[in-house]
Amino acid sequence: MRLMISWCSCLVIFGLLRASHRASVVAYNITPSEPLFPNQTLVSSGNIFELGFFKLSGSENQYIGIRYKNLMPSKIVWVANRERPLVYKDRSAKLTIGSDGNLKLMDGQENIVWSTNVSSRSNHTSAVLLDSGNFVLQDENYAHIWESFEDPTDTLLPTMRLEVNVKTRVKKLLISWRSDSDPFPGSFSTGLTYETPPQIFTWNGSTPYRRGGQWDKSKFVGIPTMDQSYKSGYTVEQDTQQGTTYFSVKVYNIFGYLFIYSEGSVKLMYWDDRAMKWSKGWASANDTCPIYGTCGPFGVCNSLNSPICRCIYGFVPKSNEEWNSGNWTRGCVREMELNCQKNTSTLTSTNVKEDEFWQMSRMRLPDSADYVLDVEDEEGCESWCRRNCSCLAYSYVSTIGCMVWNKDLIDLREFPTAGEDLSVRVAHVKAGGSPHKAVIISLSTIAGIMFFAVFVFVLCKWKTGNLNKIRRLLDLVDTPEKSTKLTQGNAWQEQLKQDDSLELTLYSFDSILLATNKFSTTSKLGQGGFGSVYKGKLKDGKEVAVKRLSSTSAQGVEEFKNEIILISKLQHRNLVKLVGYCIEGEEKILLYEYLSNKSLDAFLFDSRKKAELDWGKRFQIIQGIARGLLYLHRDSCRRVIHRDLKVSNILLNEKMNPKISDFGLARMFEGTEVLVNTQKIVGTRGYMSPEYVMGGIFSERSDVYSFGVLLLEIVSGKKNTAMYDQGHLNLLSYAWQLWSDGKALDLTDVAMAVSSPLEVTRCIHVGLLCVQDHAPDRPNMLNVVLILSGESDLPQPRQPIFTFQAEMPNRSIPSQQESIWSVNTITNTVVEGR
Ligand SMILES: *[C@@H]1O[C@H](CO)[C@@H](O)[C@H](O)[C@H]1NC(C)=O
Ligand SMILES: *[C@@H]1O[C@H](CO)[C@@H](O)[C@H](O)[C@H]1NC(C)=O
Ligand SMILES: *[C@@H]1O[C@H](CO)[C@@H](O)[C@H](O)[C@H]1NC(C)=O
Ligand SMILES: *[C@@H]1O[C@H](CO)[C@@H](O)[C@H](O)[C@H]1NC(C)=O
Ligand SMILES: *[C@@H]1O[C@H](CO)[C@@H](O)[C@H](O)[C@H]1NC(C)=O
Ligand SMILES: *[C@@H]1O[C@H](CO)[C@@H](O)[C@H](O)[C@H]1NC(C)=O
Ligand SMILES: *[C@@H]1O[C@H](CO)[C@@H](O)[C@H](O)[C@H]1NC(C)=O
Ligand SMILES: *[C@@H]1O[C@H](CO)[C@@H](O)[C@H](O)[C@H]1NC(C)=O
Repeated sequence: MRLMISWCSCLVIFGLLRASHRASVVAYNITPSEPLFPNQTLVSSGNIFELGFFKLSGSENQYIGIRYKNLMPSKIVWVANRERPLVYKDRSAKLTIGSDGNLKLMDGQENIVWSTNVSSRSNHTSAVLLDSGNFVLQDENYAHIWESFEDPTDTLLPTMRLEVNVKTRVKKLLISWRSDSDPFPGSFSTGLTYETPPQIFTWNGSTPYRRGGQWDKSKFVGIPTMDQSYKSGYTVEQDTQQGTTYFSVKVYNIFGYLFIYSEGSVKLMYWDDRAMKWSKGWASANDTCPIYGTCGPFGVCNSLNSPICRCIYGFVPKSNEEWNSGNWTRGCVREMELNCQKNTSTLTSTNVKEDEFWQMSRMRLPDSADYVLDVEDEEGCESWCRRNCSCLAYSYVSTIGCMVWNKDLIDLREFPTAGEDLSVRVAHVKAGGSPHKAVIISLSTIAGIMFFAVFVFVLCKWKTGNLNKIRRLLDLVDTPEKSTKLTQGNAWQEQLKQDDSLELTLYSFDSILLATNKFSTTSKLGQGGFGSVYKGKLKDGKEVAVKRLSSTSAQGVEEFKNEIILISKLQHRNLVKLVGYCIEGEEKILLYEYLSNKSLDAFLFDSRKKAELDWGKRFQIIQGIARGLLYLHRDSCRRVIHRDLKVSNILLNEKMNPKISDFGLARMFEGTEVLVNTQKIVGTRGYMSPEYVMGGIFSERSDVYSFGVLLLEIVSGKKNTAMYDQGHLNLLSYAWQLWSDGKALDLTDVAMAVSSPLEVTRCIHVGLLCVQDHAPDRPNMLNVVLILSGESDLPQPRQPIFTFQAEMPNRSIPSQQESIWSVNTITNTVVEGR
């Protein structure tokens, strides 16, 4: 079946083979009697891909290849004869099916240039190009005898799988072109390793070039940005019986591919229908850290540090001179011999001190891990490693299991967030105390992480219904008799008070009256739907913000207490801390840390004070908010969605560090009249995402939207809603217009000098990504944090639609109280179970 169609003259590459306006033949299959000639192309039935002879500019060679048919610029996704090109002048070349049933590419002299070379049992084979981009040789029953997906070149299409088999030692890789104009196999290749868990690598020849780290069943630990939750996903499937592991990419539709460039970088591209061009979904980061082994054995790379390399604790540079000159490849050596390696006959029993493990967090784990099969938890992993002196480090990742290292630790990288914990064996004694002590001092977060792990455990158990058991665990035992009524004694309050871990104090109403000067108007900081906020000074001189909840909440004391515990457990340096509470009669009062610099809007929208916010401070504020939000979204087994992120809910401490306030508040009012309000669409005008305004749907990505608005406000020093008078619908439309005109920097606040245009542009870019209309297009907070710290590449944002906010009658949304402490009916925080 052959059809005549006319070639479009814009086909640059394939079109070169024909006089541009000559009619050319489209074929839908190749059979023994109907070969494919250079004046023809083989097209997939849905017109998505085409296969044909092509020539590259600057070269006189001719190849057979596959490309996207109707997308311009197209992309060659496969080349048959990359190693043996035909000469372009050879017009009598043909792709045919030989007598043995194999596809053969013949030159004008009937020499076989390329062949599928499989043994076939059929003499009725034909070849077709499928809409997946797979070129297949099939028998009369349409069974595939050979397929191009089994013989990849440099491109991985969405339904294609790169296979490695540890038993047969089959390893399929993407192999780069030698250069942009030469498909000959270049030096770079990418694919999985045989080991368990598999790692993804890019090699330069046979040398490791870049490493993505171990697969943790949802992502590679060394590429935290590339998980299934963002635009660019990929999967690894394992068939342990066959010993096969498959790697594949996930793109929204067929119009996307993963591709290794001739210079070694790897990118995931997808076709953007609106912009009518290829957009980058993900790309291997372009900084020095990802290059394999930059910091040598026992060195740690951190692209945010200067210099980027340092030695692991307890290790020193092998050659100080080289190290200091910036050549880190020889790495580090142990400063002090391990106890277990010492010649035991020279030791007396008294000076034997056990080796310790030094724990590092947020790591890309080193290369060459051994997987320990029969260990089920972290302790088991540690004791396994402790027992065997040749075990230099271990890491327990719940989704992988226990990994240990017996060789030099190479290619470690530290991330600003994400990554895994790694424990490295070090000698016990070292100046400054035991490693354990030093860990606690230098990494104060670890205690927090451990405490948090307990809390997560507790909460998760709680969720599964073991409420009473957990209360006992929390040491908040209250027998039903005690808990039913407050008047029956405040035993639980006593216990709550005694629980040090909560750091939460119960205050008497009298002491609060004293602290706030009887809630005097002079001490009032703000007013809102949940009640009023006062500044208070406790007996010990400590300043607090006192939130007096006005609701005569129907919520029981018991539930209220649980809420307080929940909120007090949400601790992060970028969240406002709850320090105490008071319940007496109808009074329900929460005490928060007092932040001397009040809220961000007092600076940002104040013509005089805004100059105090230089770019450094603003960037610090943006990053802090992002981290706080990431914590709410990701770091607990209960996902907390803030729902009312806005400038007035960002408070600043004396060092201008931002803290998110009002998270968790509405949760306490669940089931009360305040929640009735939330059945209407409430929120703060200008910060609500389209899906919420239109459909009432709320998710983490709606918080991301609000964060995007907040970010653009911080950069511009303008309120989103205040742009109306200046001829723009809102700040977003203004930002988008400047962005698409290539004048993004014009958005920046005139009160601020732009000290780092790249950072500013990156922030605006992130802001625009966050406010995209389609929620799945928005990055998640992990991606945002990584992007802000320069760890991740950015896709192009899509233009947001702005009309929805103009269409909203202003009055239907409760107007925002411009208070310093924003406490208003429109604050809604939802805690959802995971
Ligand atoms: C294409 O080329 C083949 C071989 O050179 C020739 O037989 C055939 O007539 C050509 N077809 C057209 C449409 O030019
Ligand atoms: C086909 O495969 C055989 C063995 O697998 C090999 O000896 C032969 O050279 C191959 N022929 C071509 C044309 O690649
Ligand atoms: C294939 O061809 C051979 C001879 O050319 C014939 O003997 C055989 O029966 C054919 N097989 C099939 C499956 O048609
Ligand atoms: C890749 O390896 C080759 C040969 O070993 C070397 O010349 C080249 O510089 C390497 N390329 C990169 C980017 O490291
Ligand atoms: C990587 O960065 C360097 C310098 O910043 C630049 O020259 C190079 O083109 C970049 N490579 C890629 C693949 O983006
Ligand atoms: C770095 O040091 C290694 C080992 O001493 C040496 O082989 C290499 O040439 C050095 N590289 C540079 C760039 O100086
Ligand atoms: C251990 O020490 C003893 C005595 O000092 C010595 O004879 C022996 O060779 C040493 N062994 C090793 C492995 O160093
Ligand atoms: C320690 O581990 C190494 C490497 O896994 C292994 O070869 C050795 O047999 C182990 N030694 C003991 C005592 O288990």
